[in-house]
Amino acid sequence: MSSTVEDRDLATSASRSQVPLLRRAWDYMPSLIRRPILRLMRSERIRLRLLAALGIRDETDFIALGSGGADAIEAALASLKTQGVSGDYYEFGLYRGQSFWSAQRAADRLGIGGMRFFGFDSFEGLPEVEGNDRKAGIFVSGDYRAPKDQVEQLLIHHGFDMERAVLVPGYFDQSLTPEVKHDHDMGPAALVMVDCDLYQSTVPTLAFIADRLQEGTIILFDDWYCFGESEQHGEPRAFGEFLDAHPEWTAMPLQRFSGYGQSFVVHRSNPGTLPAFDQGESLTSNGG
Ligand SMILES: C[S@@+](CC[C@H](N)C(=O)[O-])C[C@H]1O[C@@H](n2cnc3c(N)ncnc32)[C@H](O)[C@@H]1O
Repeated sequence: MSSTVEDRDLATSASRSQVPLLRRAWDYMPSLIRRPILRLMRSERIRLRLLAALGIRDETDFIALGSGGADAIEAALASLKTQGVSGDYYEFGLYRGQSFWSAQRAADRLGIGGMRFFGFDSFEGLPEVEGNDRKAGIFVSGDYRAPKDQVEQLLIHHGFDMERAVLVPGYFDQSLTPEVKHDHDMGPAALVMVDCDLYQSTVPTLAFIADRLQEGTIILFDDWYCFGESEQHGEPRAFGEFLDAHPEWTAMPLQRFSGYGQSFVVHRSNPGTLPAFDQGESLTSNGG
């Protein structure tokens, strides 16, 4: 329900006395000063330092970027279990590993055994932002940088079992190779978390996972609506193009989650035609 101007004014005046001084100063700041500050705050690094300085976030620990992501992961895993879809967990875009960690915790809580956890990240943060996504000016190259050894330490510190996991470093256009699938014996995908913000990052991700999809795989796109409803940016553009190029797969919207997320369940368009991976070809023989 939308509030009227009067409602908002009333609420503002009622709570004015409780609003901290800094916030009030911000409210009264002319937009000429406010705008460059907001532009600066778009950088995750600067935002993080400021929040750490204010004691709101701990720079050395996990950071949950979207509060609903963990719930969406758990709901998806529960649904996969009910549907009898088994396989591995793939996450593209780890940052400090919070959602990766919550996936294993949820799988354990649900008693899903045998699942392996594959995580992919540059560990250098976002790449140089290109094309339409760059024009939108939302994402900043180098944001979400977290070195691999730090992420491993954080995961272990929070009780994550690294024996069931593989972290693959590198920018996706370089790191997502058939060899990596083969070397780590990556199985069919039960749950895929795409959390890499950009169109240019989502394209290689989907190309990589294509031959690991199976009937009922769930894909969570954490940043689906971060460019609004646009289909010309980010994850929606990449997934739209992927489905056009792969008519053997159909995607059914499942759930909107956290701030910007959207999940889908994939189905075979023609159940009579099985993709190569499901026809029993071993990972070793087809090279991934
Ligand atoms: C929003 S953060 C991921 C947050 C994480 N899933 C969580 O919830 O804690 C996005 C991540 O995607 C990674 N990323 C984006 N594009 C990439 C690319 N082309 N290659 C490798 N990593 C990429 C960044 O390094 C960053 O860690």
